[in-house]
Amino acid sequence: MKQDMILIIDLGNDENSALARAIRALGVYSEVHPHDLTSEELAALPNVKGIIANRGMAGIVPSAAFEASGIPMIEAEGLIPEEELRAFVFGRCGCEANWNMENFIADQIELVRAQVGDGKVLLALSGGVDSSVVAALLIRAIGKRLTCVHVNHGLLRAGEPEGVVRVFREELGADLIYVDAVDRFLGKLEGVEEPEAKRKIIGKEFIEVFAEEAHKLSGIEYLAQGTIYPDIVESGTKTGKAVKAHHNVGGLPEDLNFKLVEPLKYLFKDEVRACGKALGLPDSMVYRQPFPGPGLGVRCLGAITRDRLEAVRESDAILREEFALAGLEGKVWQYFTAIPDFRSVGVKDNARCFEWPVIIRAVNTVDAMTAEIACIEWDVLKKITSRILAEVKGVNRVVFDLSPKPTGTIEWE
Ligand code: XMP
Repeated sequence: MKQDMILIIDLGNDENSALARAIRALGVYSEVHPHDLTSEELAALPNVKGIIANRGMAGIVPSAAFEASGIPMIEAEGLIPEEELRAFVFGRCGCEANWNMENFIADQIELVRAQVGDGKVLLALSGGVDSSVVAALLIRAIGKRLTCVHVNHGLLRAGEPEGVVRVFREELGADLIYVDAVDRFLGKLEGVEEPEAKRKIIGKEFIEVFAEEAHKLSGIEYLAQGTIYPDIVESGTKTGKAVKAHHNVGGLPEDLNFKLVEPLKYLFKDEVRACGKALGLPDSMVYRQPFPGPGLGVRCLGAITRDRLEAVRESDAILREEFALAGLEGKVWQYFTAIPDFRSVGVKDNARCFEWPVIIRAVNTVDAMTAEIACIEWDVLKKITSRILAEVKGVNRVVFDLSPKPTGTIEWE
């Protein structure tokens, strides 16, 4: 193994993640682990050179395994000011500053190989950042013993399913099963207006399609997931409360009985992106803006119809293209279009028309809990408007959503 590690014991301190990041900022890898780790679990962790018992909630104490290991250990309460941290990490523990993406990838490859042996691994590859990075890492580690399943539910953005096939099957040589489930999803969603009902159908159908594909394959013991560290924290650690339930495959089909492979579970989002870059993934995948699991399904408002769904996809593609041309890519946190399920009167070719409006939403946020609208130049908005009106069928108006969150959520549904 190439990297040294400082282990932080999770005793319920809110600053566990910040402390791990502070240690990584010194060039030393760090992971947060539960307070009740056994000696065997601790011994299985590679290259632990030092332990920090990060005091937090009353009554939670480290198991005896930590003390018994003989590994240098200190107590802390939240962030340690930098000098003391350096003295512990480099002085007492003798760590080297060897945490970087190349070493992380090399270590994960070794760990994955040790975990799965000759076994086979299955991965639901959505095309999102996390699952894409897991796929690229596992292709390096185990090649064709990874099977990726890409479910096209018809609610992805323009060019995305094709991009996944091109990058993973053609460029990286992955064993990729592409499932065209467009009719199936749109059939189930027909006439369903209520946003949460739409979400549930999309999530449930996704699991079913994925489970069906998994059942067709034989000899697969492992399931890879693009779980990242914030998912674990938000879903609730042993000491923390759940903020929200995360699911990377829309919930694991339990009857499939897989063992999990989660090579990114100690990375923060920016580190996942750096890992993807180091693995050679294209910027369009690595710096992809957040995109909800139910995809364009929650942007084609009300009951989804194929014509409106296409209009959402086309207007979104125009918006993204023009934002990129205007140098706004990566500067605005999230931007997209939505189309409501009502029409308005307009005039086209000297005749009355009765068509849909396209809503443009562009927001900046730190954590998506609150958001401000992004101030976009009128000239950029006017160009996008004229392109959408000229190129997207069935649309006669474009409006810009000025609402912050709260009161408006980022998505319209
Ligand atoms: P809201 O609309 O709640 O969105 O302000 C906050 C962030 O979450 C994304 N979002 C979702 N992501 N499944 C997801 O994976 C969902 O059902 C979902 N709904 C919203 C949204 O795009 C924004 O980034």
